[in-house]
Amino acid sequence: MKKRVLVFDSGVGGLSVYSEVKKHNPDIVSFYMFDNQLFPYGNKSEAEIINRVNKLMTSFVKRYQVDLIVIACNTASTIVLDDLRSNLSIPIVGVVPAIKPAVKITKNKIVGLLATPATVARKYTHGLIEDFAKDVKVLSIGTPNLASIAEKKMSGKDFSINEIAQELKPWLDLSINEQPDTIVLGCTHFPHLRTEIQNLFPNATLVDSGNAIGIRVNNLLKDSKSIEKTDIDTEQNEAFCTSLVKLDSNLENTFKKNGFDEILEFKI
Ligand code: DGL
Repeated sequence: MKKRVLVFDSGVGGLSVYSEVKKHNPDIVSFYMFDNQLFPYGNKSEAEIINRVNKLMTSFVKRYQVDLIVIACNTASTIVLDDLRSNLSIPIVGVVPAIKPAVKITKNKIVGLLATPATVARKYTHGLIEDFAKDVKVLSIGTPNLASIAEKKMSGKDFSINEIAQELKPWLDLSINEQPDTIVLGCTHFPHLRTEIQNLFPNATLVDSGNAIGIRVNNLLKDSKSIEKTDIDTEQNEAFCTSLVKLDSNLENTFKKNGFDEILEFKI
């Protein structure tokens, strides 16, 4: 029987991770859940996110027997992984800012961390910087709006490069020598804006965690025994939002392109 993987995010950001998971694991049955009811996570309290993600994941696992979960959200992963791992017995893969690989790439020793305000403020993120980026300068932007711009793009709505430039202004205002030559896309929404961000920083290398996560999932699935499953008569991929009322219907096309024919509602 095929292994069943759930990829979770607050919105469409996790699709950037999902495509890498699918690329490295073409034979899985895929579930994708996004918490559009509470989007964006980047301005929510830690307690609210911990509570919410725990509830969603534990009730999902009870209903849809899955072998592995990917928390494809830096804002959540930087605080919920310990709790989730103690509550659930399946492997949980988190996505956190790719500081370590960026430090290996930078030549001018200036790394930019682009993430939500919450991720930039997290103790976990400060720990990553202390542990792996001691010898480089790390400039951070905690942007509250970039994830929403990515949502607009992914649902085919208008957005402008100026909106994105506004969010990146602190680095655009620097002279070229002071700008980061390596930028960590520390929010899973941002790879959807890779072209636009690259246009604003044509010489920078943009780094995200997607490919590494795809490989990690492959290793874990290879090593894990398939969980005992009952009453499963479908191998169909399923996508779930947490609020159909709030769902932008244009997103359905984006999900179709990713192999999810419809978007259902998941209620705790
Ligand atoms: N995609 C999420 C992340 O990786 C955050 C977007 C949001 O603010 O909800 O951090």
